[in-house]
Amino acid sequence: MAKTLSKIHHQMDQTALSSFDAQIWILWLKPGMKEWAEVFPETMGAAERDILQALIQRDPQKPEAGSLLSFDRNPLQRWVVAVADEGMETFRWLSLARQILKPLKEHGCKKILANLTSVPLPQSLQAADALTAAAKGLLFSFPKYSQKEVKKKDGELTLDLLVVPEVDLEEATRVVQHAESTSAANNQVRHLVMQAGNDLTPAQYVARLKKLAEQNELGYQFTSQKKLESMGAGAFLAVAQGSAHEDAGLVKLTYEGNGKKGLKHLVLVGKGVTFDTGGHNIKNSQGMYGMHRDMAGSALAYSLVALASKEKWPVRVTAFLAIAENMIGPRAYRQNDVITALNGKTIEIVDTDAEGRMLLADTLHIASGEKPDLLLDFATLTGACIRALSTLYSGVFTNRQDLVPALIAAGRESGERVWPFPMDADFAECLKSDIADIKQCRVSGGVDHIEASLFLKEFVGKDIPWVHLDLSAAENSGGLAHIETEVTGFGVRFVSRFVRNYWGWSV
Ligand code: BES
Ligand code: MN
Ligand code: ZN
Repeated sequence: MAKTLSKIHHQMDQTALSSFDAQIWILWLKPGMKEWAEVFPETMGAAERDILQALIQRDPQKPEAGSLLSFDRNPLQRWVVAVADEGMETFRWLSLARQILKPLKEHGCKKILANLTSVPLPQSLQAADALTAAAKGLLFSFPKYSQKEVKKKDGELTLDLLVVPEVDLEEATRVVQHAESTSAANNQVRHLVMQAGNDLTPAQYVARLKKLAEQNELGYQFTSQKKLESMGAGAFLAVAQGSAHEDAGLVKLTYEGNGKKGLKHLVLVGKGVTFDTGGHNIKNSQGMYGMHRDMAGSALAYSLVALASKEKWPVRVTAFLAIAENMIGPRAYRQNDVITALNGKTIEIVDTDAEGRMLLADTLHIASGEKPDLLLDFATLTGACIRALSTLYSGVFTNRQDLVPALIAAGRESGERVWPFPMDADFAECLKSDIADIKQCRVSGGVDHIEASLFLKEFVGKDIPWVHLDLSAAENSGGLAHIETEVTGFGVRFVSRFVRNYWGWSV
């Protein structure tokens, strides 16, 4: 068993307590409590109460969920006192955990104790999850291209969590291990997404994925651009052919399951555009800035299969990563071209910047061929979804309306929040074409995030439950919840929660 970041304890003696660089106290605000004196637990020493009392007198705030006090108890140990209540959802727990841990890490604290003995069940598990996820997330390091000497890595953090006796140690240990694995997967997504575009061309991305597949013992198969051409994947090709390099393709990664018979099959699809210029409908400078990150969906799909394999999920998982760049060039596709997709449908091209749905069209058709029990796709697909939701939420779209409550719930429970949009057929009126089976999109206006989803739906097998995740929260300035970087790596926590709830297994 690999070394883990967090450990759970029911008790700890005084000498052990003094060995930590920092102690976090989460105080519990019960309904009706108004004064600090009421929230201080009996287990807190009188000396510390006095220090706290003095701090509070200087700044006479009343305790409320999210309140934070921080001080040096002595030169060797820093204390952070935070207040929580039962109304706090996971997003707020994660945000609070970052607020607590970020300054501690910057202070150089490595061995941290979190005293959760005031926090009842089930919130103690929520707190343990949030603190562990935040700590692992803070250990993320940027890909570095600078000649400047990289500061020596400041080592790993450890987090010891002191919990109420009602908490089952084994269960809590599973919770924090899962938090750590999902955060490691999130770090992996962020790392891939932040790669410079000239360091992650389609060819380089495919090579990296091959290596990562080997390291994670995943099945790996690559369908080259040439092969896709001979298969008749015209929608995929329309985008790929604009590149000067014939290096686009479809990467298939598989995790065969935990060895049990009759496992359900989860199939993932990810948009992997390593750079989106917009093609001949070229983006302006502001719009193109950051478009090396247009492969976030594929990075998420990869990280999820790897996570499934690491955690031995009781399902089979197959991921298809559609990897290409959207470029300008003599062979690039143009407006008004008519393209034949792999499923035979003809598509009238309206805007070469709507490349994601082209790649996904053929990829979803291929993925449907696996007869998945559940099909999920991830893509930084539309600016419209960002305008509709901001970058705090991601959008969800499904051909099974009865999944909507479960999608919202998984967003709330995981702290990666999603919001659904309607998929009624009349939204697709604008996709009617005079000369082809379907239009790619509109020239302008409309509700492109919804219309794009209805376009994708045409390429998904009718009998397959399918959810499309438009990753509007893939980037948020100032970070999101426990994540401090602008690139959020959004999706690992949400998807792993959603599929666990869907098939009803626990961590
Ligand atoms: N990758 C973009 C969408 C995007 C833009 C994601 C900014 C994140 C941040 C996508 O390929 C795109 O360009 N979509 C167009 C579609 C339009 C031409 C119908 C858009 O949203 O403008
Ligand atoms: Mn585009
Ligand atoms: Zn794009």
